[in-house]
Amino acid sequence: MLNILDNETVALDENDNSVIIIDQTKLPNDIIFLKLSTAKEIWEAIYRLSVRGAPAIGVTAAFGIYILAKAINTDNFHDFHAEFIKQKDYLNSSRPTAVNLSWALARMENVLNNNKELPILAIKEALRLEAHKIKAEDIEVCRLIGEHGLTLLKHGDGILTHCNAGQLAACKYGTATAPIYLGQERGYRFRVFADETRPLLQGARLTAYELVSKGVDVTLICDNMSAAVMQKGLVQAVLVGCDRVAANGDAANKIGTAVVAAVARHYGVPFYVCAPASTIDFSTKSGEDIPIEERLPSEITEMWYQKRMAPPDVKVFNPSFDVTGHELITAIITEHGIAKPPFTDSLRKILT
Ligand code: MRU
Repeated sequence: MLNILDNETVALDENDNSVIIIDQTKLPNDIIFLKLSTAKEIWEAIYRLSVRGAPAIGVTAAFGIYILAKAINTDNFHDFHAEFIKQKDYLNSSRPTAVNLSWALARMENVLNNNKELPILAIKEALRLEAHKIKAEDIEVCRLIGEHGLTLLKHGDGILTHCNAGQLAACKYGTATAPIYLGQERGYRFRVFADETRPLLQGARLTAYELVSKGVDVTLICDNMSAAVMQKGLVQAVLVGCDRVAANGDAANKIGTAVVAAVARHYGVPFYVCAPASTIDFSTKSGEDIPIEERLPSEITEMWYQKRMAPPDVKVFNPSFDVTGHELITAIITEHGIAKPPFTDSLRKILT
């Protein structure tokens, strides 16, 4: 049987000048690969969540800006730079909350700025290498998050997770799933509860699918069941990913995460945010400054139904993310170690 995790979430096809992704809007029913060659194709794939999850968005943007830069036909650095910035700004507008998008594009821009004196061909090669480096780093970063995260868990623990912060959201291991995958390899026999994650069902369609494909003991629950499983003592830890962590530790993640954090606090269950350093944004002071994407009302009213399930005139509010206040977070697990409150000090200590 084809295991979804044997495929790369994001890959560069050098000969065809395209970025290859698994179309995550079609999972788990259909495994379809998309070839993205133009700026519009890359922008739309990110916007409509064909590729999603903060780290995977960053890697797609890095490969994307590389193939767009490769196609710029000039020997003049000034013209090359102007066109690069135009394409970069366009890709950067595809989704606002996950900071990995602007982080990866800024890394690519730095390559340009640090190599001004080189011929354009050599700059293009440096961009190619940087994009591959961003992807390779993601794999190692997630593995390290897994190692650190595992130190907080015990054999047989029940773990609740929200949305998909798995391999499909990154390049390998995922962030919140990394301790689960490493634990699985080492016989920890975790019992995972995956929130279905309304309205786009990343938990049901992607996390449950990934974990089942790896033989992890996973139970799918609706978003409004977290209290029920915690009340029964079935959950010993919550592990979630994030799209942006502010300097004070406030963390934006998929809508519904803050509810899980509040429920976890009520039942005394530790709530862990798994965050690569690339997702920690010291220039954002607190959660209030994190831009929250709002998406189409139809995702709520009709997307997964055979018939629309809401009255035609009803007002809809569809924020794609919420911010979990730092006071509800037990620890932030990074590739450099585990940050504990107060995060304003601990994050800087760990990362600088
Ligand atoms: O809208 P999505 O599916 O891109 O939201 C994804 C999440 O909220 C993830 O938890 C987050 O990006 C971390 S992925 C390692």
